[in-house]
Amino acid sequence: MSKNKRYRLISFPELGDERGNLVVIEKGEYLPFEIRRIFYIYGTKPNVERGQHANKESEFLLINLAGTCDIKVEDGVNTEVIRLSKAHQGVYLDRMVWKTMYNFSPESILLVASNKKYNPEEYVREYDVFQKLASEI
Ligand code: TYD
Repeated sequence: MSKNKRYRLISFPELGDERGNLVVIEKGEYLPFEIRRIFYIYGTKPNVERGQHANKESEFLLINLAGTCDIKVEDGVNTEVIRLSKAHQGVYLDRMVWKTMYNFSPESILLVASNKKYNPEEYVREYDVFQKLASEI
């Protein structure tokens, strides 16, 4: 466990008042990249596992806006399962983090922001290739 983790759980400030909650995420401490892509995953069927890849170039910020899901993150040294169940929390993933999302509740809406547009070429989908590339970082 010597290497710095290439992922982190982030709690965003809640700017709620008597009307309810508001979360603002601007580039900086809570969002360390310029957004070039967003996508979201919802209506996920029971027992589905998504992800199971790492990215050579994309960084991600994942926020589960409703419901719950779990994300298992691996950076080649550290492995953690993080439960995402709060709209004011997110997980930042640096490049070359293997991620698996699962345990989606029926109402889960998982929002994902990235610094890169979609490019299937930069996805690493073989676990052994990921392990080799992660060890070279
Ligand atoms: P997939 O990589 O399986 O999604 P996940 O990593 O969330 O499990 O992608 C599912 C399909 O959507 C696949 O055909 C590729 C396409 N896709 C895009 O076109 N752009 C994107 O940004 C993403 C994430 C997927």
